Amino acid sequence: MAGIAGYRRPYAGTQPNHLHPPYVSSLKRAPLRPLVPMPHTLTEVTGPQFGSESVDPKACDLTRQHAGEPLGERIVVSGRVLDENGRAVPHTLVEVWQANAAGRYLHKVDQHDAPLDPNFTGCGHVLTDAEGRYRMVTIRPGEYPWRNHYNAWRPAHIHFSLFGPAFATRLVTQMYFPGDPLIPYDPIFNCTADEKARNRLISVFDWETTIPVHALGFRFDIILAGREATPWEEPHTNGGK
Ligand SMILES: [Fe+2]
Repeated sequence: MAGIAGYRRPYAGTQPNHLHPPYVSSLKRAPLRPLVPMPHTLTEVTGPQFGSESVDPKACDLTRQHAGEPLGERIVVSGRVLDENGRAVPHTLVEVWQANAAGRYLHKVDQHDAPLDPNFTGCGHVLTDAEGRYRMVTIRPGEYPWRNHYNAWRPAHIHFSLFGPAFATRLVTQMYFPGDPLIPYDPIFNCTADEKARNRLISVFDWETTIPVHALGFRFDIILAGREATPWEEPHTNGGK
């Protein structure tokens, strides 16, 4: 379609490979034929917008959703959401979900033998401000085992979902914690071949947002689309992107 500026395509290796055999699920999901690049038409450069009317102001603090406080280490997770040119993405919805401090999700499919926490649901959301900043308070999630291979454990992580301004800027990803010894062994983290790109998934410890006597701060900036885009959490197809 003439007159529509598309988003830049990512450099090779900076997004998860569709086939990454160490991540066993990718064997069944990976396309058998080369992808067909889809042009960015009006359909791709527009998308649903979620305004403040769909946001619960209390949802940005996952430690205050119940009568008591959840067990675990309180943390502040904050950052900026930027576009492919480094400009702020204002008033955009950021959603998160995570395991509790024991590494257990409040979900019927999660059968990990670790306790649930009656004071922790593990879901939250917030809108970025005019400068693209977001901030959430939560507890540090625990590592948990999974069945990918023998003695497989996921590094501690928080799932993120963003729409951004368009379908082409949709992103589902995971934030990791600096210094986690499980990160180099994680097949999902390693789906992204480019080292610099996959390291964008690791948050940075942040004194600026650390609250004295209360919570450690971690900064996680997110880039939607373009050459330096934050990698998806796993192989996906998004308009050939
Ligand atoms: Fe997870």
